[in-house]
Amino acid sequence: MGIDKLLDGVQVASIVCNQWGDTGKGKFSDYFSEWADVIARGTGGNNAGHTVVVNGEKRVFHLLPAGIVYDSEGKFNILGKGMVVNPKVLVQEMDEIIDAGKTIDNLMVSRDAHVILDYHVGQDKARYESQGNGGVGSTGRGIGPCYSDKVGRRGIRMFEFLDKNILSSKIGKVKDFYPNQKIDIEKIVEESRPFARRLFPFVSDTDAEMQTFLKQGKKVLLEGAQGLLLSVEHGTYPYVTSSDCSLNGTASGVGISSRRIDLPLGIVKFPFMTRVGGGPFPTELGGVKSEKYCGESGHELENELESNGIYFTRHGEGIKYDSSHPRILKMIKSEDSFVRGAGMRLAAGEYGATTGRPRRIGWTDAVALKYAVGINGPLMVLTKADCLSNKGDFEICYEYATSMGFSTRFGTDEGFLRSVKPINKVYEGYGDIGDVRSFDKLPKSFRDAVGDLEKFTGGRVAMVSVGAERDATIVR
Ligand code: IMP
Repeated sequence: MGIDKLLDGVQVASIVCNQWGDTGKGKFSDYFSEWADVIARGTGGNNAGHTVVVNGEKRVFHLLPAGIVYDSEGKFNILGKGMVVNPKVLVQEMDEIIDAGKTIDNLMVSRDAHVILDYHVGQDKARYESQGNGGVGSTGRGIGPCYSDKVGRRGIRMFEFLDKNILSSKIGKVKDFYPNQKIDIEKIVEESRPFARRLFPFVSDTDAEMQTFLKQGKKVLLEGAQGLLLSVEHGTYPYVTSSDCSLNGTASGVGISSRRIDLPLGIVKFPFMTRVGGGPFPTELGGVKSEKYCGESGHELENELESNGIYFTRHGEGIKYDSSHPRILKMIKSEDSFVRGAGMRLAAGEYGATTGRPRRIGWTDAVALKYAVGINGPLMVLTKADCLSNKGDFEICYEYATSMGFSTRFGTDEGFLRSVKPINKVYEGYGDIGDVRSFDKLPKSFRDAVGDLEKFTGGRVAMVSVGAERDATIVR
C-alpha cells in the first residue's frame, strides 16, 4: 500500500513512541510534515531531541516541531499547552532556523505552556540523581522541577512570563520552594525581557487556534516526545519523565481529544531497542553493568571508537566511521552480552541527540510492546532495522521468566522488571535491506519476526523504516 492510501481520509495523524524514546520519531514527523498543514507538539520540552535529515543535512531540534523546516511553505508549527518551554532555548532554535535561511512566521507558542527558568535547571542539575548510582539520570534541563511547579499550582505560564510585573510576583511566590537556588527576582526579570520581546508575537491561545484549524479541514500532525515507557502515567515510574507522553497525553497537550486522531502511529525500534537514563530494562544486553556504564561520562561515541581502536574522521559536528568495521562485527558476535550490546550501539550509532550519552541496548521487548499497543493503539512503524543488516542472528523477547513461572505480562514495577529474565526467540540474520521499498521484498526471517510480533501484540505494522533518508521507507 502506498502512502496516499494510508493517508486517505485522514485529517489528524499522530506519531508517538512505544518504547523509551529515541526511536526515530523525527524522521516520521518530517515525513508526515510534508502532508500536514499544522504540526503540533503537546508534551515535554528540550529534554527531547530529534534528528531530521533534510537534503542530506542533519538537524537536531529540541523544542521546535520537525515541521518547522516547512514553515516557509505556510505550514503552522505549534508548541502546545502541555509543554514546558525554556525561552532561551526556543529563541536560540528560532535563530538557528532563520540562519539556515528558513522562516518562523507560522510558529505558535501556547500562552498556557509552562516556562522553564534558570532555577528549574539549577535544581534539576543539583538534584541530578545519576544513572550510575541507580537514579533516573534526568537530562538536566529543568523538566521535572518545572512540571512539579505546574502540578503544585505555582508554575509560570507563557502569558505570565511576558508581563514583567506578573513574572516578578509569581517568582516571589515560588522562591521558597527553591531554598538552595540563588533567586534574584529583579535580575531574572531583567534578563528575561529580550526573550519575552522576541517571543511575544508568537504566543497565542493555541487550543482555540487548533479548533479553528480542525473546522477549516486543515490536516494536523501531532508530534509526540519521549516514549510511552517514559510516561509519568504509564511508564516505568519513577524512572520516567514528568509528562504523559502517551497518545492521550500528546493529544491533551495540544487541546484535542485523542478520538480526533484518524491515524495514530506508534514508533518501535526493531529488532533492537534502547533506553537512555536509569531504570529497569529487562532485555538489556549487559544488564546493570551496561546501565551503570552508559550513565557515566566519558563513553560518548568518540571515546568508544577510540577505546575499541576504530578509525574515524570528524565532519563538522558529526563523526564518520565504518559501522560494519570488522572490530564492531566481532563485538556483536561476542559471547559477552555487554560487549555484544556495545557492538550493536556502535553499529547503530546509538548516542543521545540531547546529551551525547551512549544509549543502553537490548533486543526488542514484545512483552513491553504489547502493553504499549494497548495504550497507544495498534498501528506500528518499525525503525532502524537496517542498522542490523549483515550483523548476524537477531532476537525478540516474547516472554519473561519470573520467580513465579513464566509471564507474558508487562508491569511497571521496578522490582518485577529487574527480577525477570527475558525469553528470546532467535531469528536468522538478514542482509542489506536499505534499498528495499516493498514489504514483500524484505528477507523472510524479518517478515516472520514481524508476523510473530503482530500476533503477539495484537498490533499491525504499517510502515518500516530502512534508513535515515525520507525515501528509505516502506509503506505496507
Ligand atoms: P527528564 O525528562 O530530563 O526529567 O529525564 C527523565 C528520564 O527520561 C531520564 O531517564 C532521561 O534520560 C529520560 N528522557 C528524557 N527525555 C528523553 C528523550 O527524549 N529520549 C530518551 N530518554 C529521555
